[in-house]
Amino acid sequence: MEEDLLRLKEEAVAALAASGKDELEPFRVKYLGRKGLFTSVMRQLGQASAEDRPRLGKLANDIKQELELSFAARLEELGGGKTGGGPRLDLTLPGRTEPCGRPHPVTQVMEEVCGIFEGLGFTVAEGPDVETDFYNFEALNIPPHHPARDMHDTFYVSDALLLRTHTSPMQIRAMTEQQPPLRMIAPGKVYRCDSDITHTPMFHQVEGFLVDRKVSFADLKGVLSVFIAKMFHHDTAIRFRPSFFPFTEPSAEVDIGCVICGGKGCRVCKQTGWLEILGAGMIDPAVFAKVGYDSEQYSGFAFGLGIERIAMLKYGITDIRLYYENDLRFLSQF
Ligand code: PHE
Repeated sequence: MEEDLLRLKEEAVAALAASGKDELEPFRVKYLGRKGLFTSVMRQLGQASAEDRPRLGKLANDIKQELELSFAARLEELGGGKTGGGPRLDLTLPGRTEPCGRPHPVTQVMEEVCGIFEGLGFTVAEGPDVETDFYNFEALNIPPHHPARDMHDTFYVSDALLLRTHTSPMQIRAMTEQQPPLRMIAPGKVYRCDSDITHTPMFHQVEGFLVDRKVSFADLKGVLSVFIAKMFHHDTAIRFRPSFFPFTEPSAEVDIGCVICGGKGCRVCKQTGWLEILGAGMIDPAVFAKVGYDSEQYSGFAFGLGIERIAMLKYGITDIRLYYENDLRFLSQF
């Protein structure tokens, strides 16, 4: 029997080495299967003498084990494993997710702001980033050498051309092209030569304006109150503070109760409990005169808000420059 076993082993090893992928299963059945050659040699164990039996039994087991291991190795080598070709797959490993792109936080807030005003019946208009001095300053009641020009830190392209410093020139573009009633918003990029934790040389504004008969400051307050309630929280506190813009009279800056501390006073609101979010006012008759509207018949309001600032307040972002560093760890949080 010992001879039979050793011969069988030799034969099987050779057959395994010579077998291709498709011969592996026939090999397994022929040698290692329940009705295979190995099993039939094992049957002879019963006829062996009592003293030989343990030794022969161990030999047979060792050979079988060895063959099974070689078979598994060969199976792996030829890529015939149950999991298909290649190395064994660990099906318990979690899948790899593809990173997913999404709109920039500034885009998201811009869309939200525009959506609210569209819901109030405002139409959307866009204009050029490179503006003339006339639209950006002159027609907005800011003549050459007016001190208000200092506040704008203008990038000039040439003597008469500049990168718009605000979206207010869109008021002039709309009013010179259309007659009242007008109810519009103008979102877009604006530029000022300024950079620190609350300023970037390019940022986004949304201008809004409404011109009709009998428009009053109360209408302005109503529209802005609805906007603030929708953008922040329905019981966010609002206050109008007297201010000055050459193109509105009267003018106001609008504050909301600090969204971080709820008005108690913190670092973000500089202990005042209030955050400035936009500039607004009644359109100055001097502007109507420039575009040929009769200020005896028509009145209107205008406002301008900064998108980055609103997004900072909404999400508690403390450095405006984060928006433009393209760091995915920051961007993927929105
Ligand atoms: N254009 C002003 C600014 O950029 C904001 C503003 C717009 C104020 C409309 C009043 C009316 O600061």
